[in-house]
Order: sequence, then structure tokens, then C-alpha cells
Amino acid sequence: MAPFLCMWIAAFFGVSQGCPEPCTCVEKKFGRQLAECAYRDLQEVPAGLPSNVTTLTLSANRLHALQQRSFLEVTQVQSLWLAHNQISAIEAGTFAGLLHLKNIDLSHNQLADFPWRDLHNLSALQLLKMNNNQLARLPADAFRTLRDLRSLWINDNKLATIAQGTFDAMRSLSQLQVYNNPLNCTCALQWLKGWAENTLISIPERDSISCAAPDSFRGLPLARVPDLPCAPPSVQLSSQPSLDSTELHEGFTLLLHCSATGSPPPELSWRVQTASQGTEVNGPSVERPRQDRAAGGSKQSAGSFVIFKNGTLLIPNFSKHEEGTYTCLAANEVGAHEVSASVALASSESLLEDLLRNKLAGAASKPGAKHCSQGAQANSSQAAEKLVIIYRVPAGMGRSGGGAVLEPWRWTCLLWLVIVLPW
Ligand SMILES: *[C@@H]1O[C@H](CO)[C@@H](O)[C@H](O)[C@H]1NC(C)=O
Ligand SMILES: *[C@@H]1O[C@H](CO)[C@@H](O)[C@H](O)[C@H]1NC(C)=O
Ligand SMILES: *[C@@H]1O[C@H](CO)[C@@H](O)[C@H](O)[C@H]1NC(C)=O
Ligand SMILES: *[C@@H]1O[C@H](CO)[C@@H](O)[C@H](O)[C@H]1NC(C)=O
Ligand SMILES: *[C@@H]1O[C@H](CO)[C@@H](O)[C@H](O)[C@H]1NC(C)=O
Ligand SMILES: *[C@@H]1O[C@H](CO)[C@@H](O)[C@H](O)[C@H]1NC(C)=O
Repeated sequence: MAPFLCMWIAAFFGVSQGCPEPCTCVEKKFGRQLAECAYRDLQEVPAGLPSNVTTLTLSANRLHALQQRSFLEVTQVQSLWLAHNQISAIEAGTFAGLLHLKNIDLSHNQLADFPWRDLHNLSALQLLKMNNNQLARLPADAFRTLRDLRSLWINDNKLATIAQGTFDAMRSLSQLQVYNNPLNCTCALQWLKGWAENTLISIPERDSISCAAPDSFRGLPLARVPDLPCAPPSVQLSSQPSLDSTELHEGFTLLLHCSATGSPPPELSWRVQTASQGTEVNGPSVERPRQDRAAGGSKQSAGSFVIFKNGTLLIPNFSKHEEGTYTCLAANEVGAHEVSASVALASSESLLEDLLRNKLAGAASKPGAKHCSQGAQANSSQAAEKLVIIYRVPAGMGRSGGGAVLEPWRWTCLLWLVIVLPW
């Protein structure tokens, strides 16, 4: 009798063969196959699950890590319930092969990080719950392939900021839970306030989308933070000797002044690339002019260059050795901007040759620019501009060897220009 009874039960409940002992596998309508393994004190994803499982419930166990192999057997899974475990580590690739996944719940775990790239493969995803974890970082492109995602729950994490555009690719998004994160309400987050005001997406508990920093806004809902004066950096590069100088003496001192505007005030740094060394020196981050006065002549030197905290780069003894590209970079949390000056010496006899060499060294010209002190005004984040400065010296004098001791002689600044040649 007993075997018959068992078969009868199996047939009645649709219990399939090959279900691992701690789980219950049930066949549902429309070809759905449920593996129910919740509340089992499991520390590992059980092995031996039927390969056609579409719903796998592992909630409220004691899972603490997931590996690439954890779900290899269940590549057809559409719903994966993993809430209320102690998961703190997920190996990269764990979810990347679950191309049919529509719902995943990882809420109420200990996740401080996540293999975000795995999400790029999960383009069928509709529900993503990661709330009540320790997530402190959210890559700007984390959700870029999730066109069908309807609900995103990332509330109750440790997110201090969210990059602009993070939610843009999710065209189907209708619900976003983002409250109870310790937001740093600086310029970098200003966009979220306006976006949340204007979007049709349902964003619950708005009063709990609030600031933990800066101090002046602590506890304040983001929606009530006043509009901040935010502007991306804009760099101005000028040089000395200037256009008006007519004479240059041996080993003249070249000053490249870099000033930048922006709010908050940008950090400045220099990148130096000389042809002779063929190496790139990353200049130290220098402070703003106002602070320089207090700091006196505080400076940092990189080989034959001196970089002052006020943003000025000084080349004490300009020769062929120091020919190269000098780039001033400015960055704040709103954006970044850089302007380069390619500085070269040219003797009159070989001007063309030198210019060509300069071009090969990467000194692109900027058509239309007239004057090297004309800074860049573009405001896009990746904006980069190049100026070319050529000091022309009399014939026979521009070819001095690097180490030779020179007689006192005069450099003449005959030409001080930004090349506008039609290469
Ligand atoms: C899933 O596989 C089991 C055997 O492993 C089988 O009994 C069951 O019919 C299958 N279910 C579906 C929906 O294909
Ligand atoms: C994830 O997607 C990439 C690109 O579409 C693919 O090359 C890769 O094999 C996928 N990963 C898995 C585990 O299927
Ligand atoms: C907030 O952001 C600003 C600007 O990026 C940063 O200087 C500051 O340290 C951040 N504060 C916290 C608490 O993370
Ligand atoms: C920055 O400081 C250096 C050294 O004190 C000085 O030579 C230079 O002129 C200053 N730059 C500006 C733009 O004031
Ligand atoms: C500055 O950026 C904004 C937004 O990207 C753009 O609309 C505007 O035209 C830009 N202004 C300039 C001068 O490039
Ligand atoms: C200036 O440079 C020249 C050529 O590179 C070198 O011979 C000379 O010693 C340098 N002078 C100083 C003061 O560094």
C-alpha cells in the first residue's frame, strides 16, 4: 500500500524527482516549477535542484556567501528569493548566467558590495530588491541594461551619493525606494532633488530621503535642501613671458599660470609630458591661490619643474629639454576640465621641421584660438583643449645640446603663437 500512497501523493502535488532533501519541489501551472527551501537553516544553496526550476525560494536561511557555482543547476530560474539571510559576499558571475531572471530579492542581508556587472546580463529583470543591506557604492552604470525593471528597492543602505543618470536607462521603472540612505547633499547630488520632483516614477517615503552630510543639512529631507551654487570647473591657462615680451635671455624662466573657476572650488593638478624624458609626471595636487598666501612659497618640484600651490608651474631654465606638453587639470564634484599648452623652441632655419616634430609629439592645434592666454570656457566634463606655444630663436641658437654650458646670449621671442596650420 505504502508505495502506491507515495506515488499518489507525488502525482497529486506534482512533486518531482530529484528534489534535494531540504527542499520541496512542486510543479505549478503553465510549466512553472517551484523549489521551496525557505526556513531550513541552510548555509549553502542545496545541490541537486531540478534544472527546470523557475522559482527558487531560499529566504530566511543562514546563507552567508554565494559563489559562481551556486546557481549553475538552475539556469531557467525566473524568481530567486534570497531575503533574510546573512549574505555578505557574492562572487562575480554568480548571477550572470541567469538570463531568465525576472525577480530577485536580496533584501535584509549584509551586502556591502555586489558584483554589479552581473546585472548587465539580466536584461529580463523586473524586480530588484536590495534594500536593508550595507551598500555604500552604486556604480553609475549598474542598471544600464535593465530596460524592463519596474521596481527597484535600494532603501536602507549606506549610499552617500548616487551619480546623475543612474536611473535613466530603466524606461519601465515605476517604483523606486531609495529612502533611509545617509545622503551627502552636495553639488554631486543636486540633480536627484530636481529629478525626484519631476519624475512620474513612484518614490515613496520622500521625507526619509534625507541628508546625513554636510552638517548644515543633517536630517533635512533632500527635497528641502536649498539650491546650491554648483558649477563645473573652467580652466584658464596663461603664460609668461607674454605675447609682448621681445627678448628672452638664456635659460629664460617660463611660468604657466593656471587658474580655474567653479563651485565648489576645483582641485588643480598638472601633468607634464616632455619629449626628452618621454615620461609623464603627474603633478601634485596643488591648492588654490587664496591658501597659497598663507602657505607662503610652499611648492613641490618634479624634476626641472616647480609647481606652486597657487596653480603656477615654473620652469626655471627653459631649453629643448623642457619642450613638451603641460596640462593643467581642474576637477570638482560637478565635473572636470583640462587645458594643455605644448611649448616648443624653434630656430628660424628649422621652424617647419620643428613644428612638424611638435605635431608628431601630439601637440594638436586648436583652430581659431589666437592667443595662448585665452583659456578654455567649455563646461563639459571631458572638455580638453590644447594650445601650442612656439618660442622662435635666431638661427643657430635653438639647437643647443642639453648639457652644454652656453655663452650668455639672447633668445628672441619672434614668434609667440598658437598654430593654426592646415595639416
Ligand atoms: C521538471 O523536471 C522534472 C524532472 O526533473 C519533471 O518531472 C517535470 O515535469 C519538469 N517540469 C517542467 C515544468 O518541465
Ligand atoms: C554575460 O553577458 C556577456 C555579454 O553579453 C556574455 O559574454 C557572457 O557570456 C554572459 N555571462 C554569462 C555567464 O552568461
Ligand atoms: C561629502 O562630499 C564632499 C564632497 O565630495 C566630501 O568632501 C565630504 O567628505 C563628504 N562627506 C561625507 C560625510 O562623506
Ligand atoms: C604663484 O606663486 C609663485 C611663487 O610665489 C609666483 O611666482 C607666481 O606669480 C604666482 N602666480 C600667480 C598667478 O600669482
Ligand atoms: C554647459 O552645459 C550645459 C549642460 O550640459 C549646456 O546646456 C550648455 O550649452 C553648456 N554651455 C557651454 C558654454 O558649453
Ligand atoms: C640651464 O640649462 C642648461 C642647458 O640644459 C644647462 O647647461 C644649465 O646648467 C642650466 N642652468 C641652470 C641654472 O640650471
